[in-house]
Amino acid sequence: MTTHPQPSAGQCPAHEQTPPTTGPNPIYGDAFSADPHATYRRLRAQGPIVPVEISPGVYGYLAVTYRAAVYLLRNTPSRFAKDPRHWEALRLGQVPADSPALMMMQPRDNALWKDGPEHTRLRNAINTAVAQVDTHALAAAVTGIADQLIDTFAATGQADMVAQYSDPLPMLTVINMFGCSQELGMRIVGAVTRLFDGADVEQANAELEAACLELTHLKRRAPGRDVASYLIAAGLTDAEMVQTILLVIGAAAPPTSNLVGNGLRRVLTDPSFAGSVHAGVRPVTDALEEVLWDNPPVPNYSPLYAIGQQSYEGVDLWPGYPILVSFAAANGDPTLVVAPGARAGNKGHLAFSAGVHGCPAPDLGRLIAETALERVLDRLPGLDLAVPENELHNRPGTFLAGLTALPVRFQPDTRLAPHGR
Ligand code: HEM
Repeated sequence: MTTHPQPSAGQCPAHEQTPPTTGPNPIYGDAFSADPHATYRRLRAQGPIVPVEISPGVYGYLAVTYRAAVYLLRNTPSRFAKDPRHWEALRLGQVPADSPALMMMQPRDNALWKDGPEHTRLRNAINTAVAQVDTHALAAAVTGIADQLIDTFAATGQADMVAQYSDPLPMLTVINMFGCSQELGMRIVGAVTRLFDGADVEQANAELEAACLELTHLKRRAPGRDVASYLIAAGLTDAEMVQTILLVIGAAAPPTSNLVGNGLRRVLTDPSFAGSVHAGVRPVTDALEEVLWDNPPVPNYSPLYAIGQQSYEGVDLWPGYPILVSFAAANGDPTLVVAPGARAGNKGHLAFSAGVHGCPAPDLGRLIAETALERVLDRLPGLDLAVPENELHNRPGTFLAGLTALPVRFQPDTRLAPHGR
């Protein structure tokens, strides 16, 4: 293994590990979002794990081959820690306060950012809770929520399926899974929306935590058949409940929104699905699995930190720098034998990550997305894109892959008033 002197935290590892002419490898911004796979191809040519600029001024590595991704995830936490207290630039206060990387990678008191026995204990509570979700009841709840959303625009013959459908549906579903009252649910949704918009963050955060604590107290007094009650029964304290509810909302809703939006786009635009899904020839599940392979809702995440000096296939990995796993690049690794077109029914992709921090609820995510898509296809006859496909754009950003908008048109439902039932 080549040894390097420990760099200072603000110094970019690319300066040492890649030829200076290569320059930094940004994985953010308009050029990256317009065609992320072009960046992944270029990075893969440099090695299995490459130095990157995660967001402006924030440096680390990105694992871009399937083998490297699986190696990192399998060796967590023995060689690679999840706990961001290993992040040297953060410790030294060098991460810009308004950095999107800070929002997504700073330590929080929940399972996502813990290692070892503490992670196992909190994770077991989540596993136990999601295992008790009644999937028939969940599908019925998603159908009801889908119908309410569709009713608001079905009479108009047009909609933006991101703003009016795929964005709100998973959040409303998760609130429902927690057994929230309408009023408490709306307070949570309102606070989360303000947090995502970056508006009034401190106040929104305080309101969100207060609402989650109120929900916990309610469910301690009157448990029901919902995820909040199952988590309480698994032994979490009030403080752990608040943080775990926030984790599940944040981990479940945005990725599922992206899967619904990108799945719908696939159904409407991919010639192998368009028409066949409507005609019942190819199931929606195939379209969703294809999207999970080549446009995963969480393309780059799972920041890890080398415990001591590590090396992988000749690449030195210094401690103190985040190593992100590119689930999107790993899925698109050309050395994989699973060819595009032969992926239906193959769940070997990394869209839900893997290892000890792998998603505890992939089947719930799939069920919500599948039900949401089927309801749209049932309710909106003649559904088609309202703009050419090249006018659809990805949201900018490193960690989440969603569309800015998905304008569609369809035959108006004349039984409904223009503003819904
Ligand atoms: C299409 C939908 C979904 C996708 C693509 C997805 C993807 C992921 C990924 C990639 C991770 C790993 C994150 C990391 O290690 O940094 C993760 C973790 C997690 N997911 Fe999901 N997820 C989805 C739906 C859900 C749902 C529906 C729930 C809960 C009801 C959920 C709960 C969680 C939790 C709690 C974690 C953290 C696990 C841990 O650190 O031990 N996810 N998910």
